[in-house]
Amino acid sequence: MIKLLVINGPNLNMLGIREPEIYGRHTLGDLEKMLRESFPETSFTFFQSNHEGAIVDEIQRAYGVMDGIIINPAAYTHTSIAILDALKAVGLPAVEVHLSDISARESFRRHSYISAACLATISGRHFEGYREAASLLISHLS
Ligand code: DQA
Repeated sequence: MIKLLVINGPNLNMLGIREPEIYGRHTLGDLEKMLRESFPETSFTFFQSNHEGAIVDEIQRAYGVMDGIIINPAAYTHTSIAILDALKAVGLPAVEVHLSDISARESFRRHSYISAACLATISGRHFEGYREAASLLISHLS
């Protein structure tokens, strides 16, 4: 069974409450349920943190345990060389996801440090983006 780690970064625990006009009204729990129901043959581990170091620790823990990583680094996308380096260090196939279209918002959201360590970046597809990321990783790993 393919094992995927799904990492959500800062403020994504506030989905449903947080700026619903941008991020929608569904919760992180809804997202996790949707992924489990869409891919019953895949094992998902979900991790959310508001702390950069905790995300680095979780990526390191995935080494030798997980088959692939789906990551929405949230605001750390635009600042974190540490998360980029952690993804490169473990070398697991990873797909970056953003709920909103980061290319169509403020200029400071246009650059991602994380993309360089990912097979693909899916942006602006809301929850569907996570489903696409899972499909992509599953076909990559099969
Ligand atoms: C986000 C986009 C980021 O710019 C922002 O800081 C987030 C969420 C998204 O999913 O659209 O927190 O990653």
